[in-house]
Amino acid sequence: MRSRLTEFERRIRRSRVIDLGAGYPDVRLPRALAEALERASVEVAKWPFTPSVARGEAATDYLITELLNLLRLPASLHAATLVTFSGSVALDRAITVSAHLHDHWLIVSPVFDVIPSLIAEQPWVRPTYINPFTANGAWDLGRLVAYIRESRPKVMIMVSPSNPLGASLSVLELQTLMTSCRDAGTLLVLDQCLYALNPFEIHIPLLPSLDIEGLSWILTWDTAKTFGLNDEKLGFIFASSDLAPKLRESLDIIQIDVSARSKLLFAELFRAARLTDYPKYLSDLVARNWHTCRSLSSVGVHVSTPQAGSFALLDVTELGLSAPQAQEIFMSSAEVGMVDAGEFYFWDPLREPWVARARDSLCRIALAREAATIEDALERIRVVAAEIAG
Ligand SMILES: Cc1ncc(COP(=O)(O)O)c(C=O)c1O
Repeated sequence: MRSRLTEFERRIRRSRVIDLGAGYPDVRLPRALAEALERASVEVAKWPFTPSVARGEAATDYLITELLNLLRLPASLHAATLVTFSGSVALDRAITVSAHLHDHWLIVSPVFDVIPSLIAEQPWVRPTYINPFTANGAWDLGRLVAYIRESRPKVMIMVSPSNPLGASLSVLELQTLMTSCRDAGTLLVLDQCLYALNPFEIHIPLLPSLDIEGLSWILTWDTAKTFGLNDEKLGFIFASSDLAPKLRESLDIIQIDVSARSKLLFAELFRAARLTDYPKYLSDLVARNWHTCRSLSSVGVHVSTPQAGSFALLDVTELGLSAPQAQEIFMSSAEVGMVDAGEFYFWDPLREPWVARARDSLCRIALAREAATIEDALERIRVVAAEIAG
């Protein structure tokens, strides 16, 4: 299985165009964070080539403590928190452990395209994809809950805030879903990697902040969507107490451990991010960039209103283009790279024919960029869109 999304993001990175494709922030790190990284680098440079076990354990402890502080999660989750190389590795292990337990799965689409590819590697799993969003991108929670109650999937996977829609579950919605999953005996796997991107200052609940007795759950989060730093990243798995030991064993198969050096770097980064409220800095930048993008409607390109996250969707229907066509034209003529949001849609076309419209006409742009980069990109898109509109 290949990820067309990853391939396209790579193509954008290799071309000399403005990169609004990759989902990772590409912004100057604020001084406090850059200094924290520098201090930690100086410290790890003094370590012996192979750090002692005690040093490794201390780094793990420091990292998890700082992570729980940054995400405002209770310290009691410490023992059920696992460190992985990346968000994709966290998801891979969550899916592998879930596959050993159960076969009939429900996947909430649109969904990060790597999740279906990872599921396809599990021979026994029978996934059903459903799209519980209304045509204008709002949750249709009633539909999702009814589906869980009727078909009682063994595992359900979803992403909130959603990539690429930006739809975020409210406290009540998450509570309702968790209760439905518990009552149906469904293991809930939730990817909340966009949690810290909250440009419109709504309340975004993290799964473990709600206590639903008897629910089996797995939460994944990673550093890439919040800190960028592109190739330098970590992933995390949090789990209910019945699953944490199984996940730990499963992780042992693919990694002895993440390096103590990486752990110290990220612990210092998390600490500086919390002390300076870096998530707010980044979220404010995303909000500002989203407001700038709205001016595109004057040339027939309509910008979605996400609830959270760091993306916006451009609807190119009025230009008479499909999303893949618009993606190619903006890449070659405007020299702006963006991705086709259709890559995130997995669904049964017979059951949900209306999803096709959303799938075929939306391009995703990343908003976690310097304001000047977004302004430059918009100007280029505006010129090309105006030419197409004639
Ligand atoms: C929703 C979602 N989850 C997980 C990941 C994987 O992140 P990582 O780059 O840490 O593997 C991505 C990457 O884009 C993502 O969009």
